[in-house]
Amino acid sequence: MNSAPPPPRRRNSLLERAVERYGFQPGVGLRPGGSSPVSAPMAVAPEVAPVPARAPEPIDRVRLAERGMLVPGGAVSTLAEEFRLVKRQLLAARGAGGRPLSVLVCSAHPDEGKTFCAVNLSLSLAAERDWEVLLVDADFAKPDVPDTLGLPAGPGLLDALADPSVDLESCIIPTDVPHLSVLPAGTRSDSDTELLASERARALLDRLEQAQPRRLMLFDSAPVLAASTASALAEHVGQVLMVVRADRTGESDLREAVALLDGCETVQLLLNAVSLQPRGHRFGSYYEAEEEA
Ligand SMILES: Nc1ncnc2c1ncn2[C@@H]1O[C@H](COP(=O)(O)OP(=O)(O)OP(=O)(O)O)[C@@H](O)[C@H]1O
Ligand SMILES: [Mg+2]
Repeated sequence: MNSAPPPPRRRNSLLERAVERYGFQPGVGLRPGGSSPVSAPMAVAPEVAPVPARAPEPIDRVRLAERGMLVPGGAVSTLAEEFRLVKRQLLAARGAGGRPLSVLVCSAHPDEGKTFCAVNLSLSLAAERDWEVLLVDADFAKPDVPDTLGLPAGPGLLDALADPSVDLESCIIPTDVPHLSVLPAGTRSDSDTELLASERARALLDRLEQAQPRRLMLFDSAPVLAASTASALAEHVGQVLMVVRADRTGESDLREAVALLDGCETVQLLLNAVSLQPRGHRFGSYYEAEEEA
């Protein structure tokens, strides 16, 4: 006699597990992210042709592999599965209007995995094909995005904010990964935060978002408790993704950081590089753990 098939295992996402761990309640600032199906991209009238006049720059896939990151076109991995789950929840939380999404990736402290998560998530989203992903390097003190991807440095967001004659679109670096472009941080000044908080910044970022109907922007930001630029940027985005290293980030620091991001209504947590499994699995091994169980 055939035995009944085992019940399907429930896969808590990283976001859900983070919410469970920190006890934040949906509706009071943090929410676990919906599990609703991803809605189709907004039906919009005429697709504006992408501007990039410049040739796509190659992404350094060897470097990505060496750093343990997603490799475009690579085999399905544990990490890829994790970022698929995160991606689904971000897309599901896009809002009823289906307006394009802009996401600020930040953390309370340095070195918690913002760039790691922002780059991997961008690669995962670009693979969707429905979106034109624009990864913005908004960590002006430590702009690691171009180096992580093996792209050249160049003018970027701060240059266009400081100088109206700089065309922001022309600073965008198209890459040889379909649907992925990068906007460098640009040249620092003493007034980065003021520039970001300005009306001009809002107008520029709105224009950037609307330049392509399917553009989806991810900002890799500075640590919230170390620089004021992240909280200024939070005013401009639809969602904040707060990277948490539970082995390092104290709960009071996390709450303080979230309070500084009150310019954005939707703050979600992404638990990174921690072991929540009795056998010591870390972020990136969840899929494996499911298979072994
Ligand atoms: N889940 C992970 N698995 C493996 N390595 C990771 C993971 N998360 C982060 N790292 C590694 O930890 C280091 C710090 O990560 P990352 O540079 O992304 O942090 P950050 O928050 O952007 O730091 P900073 O505030 O200095 O910009 C990097 O070497 C990165 O590759
Ligand atoms: Mg970084």
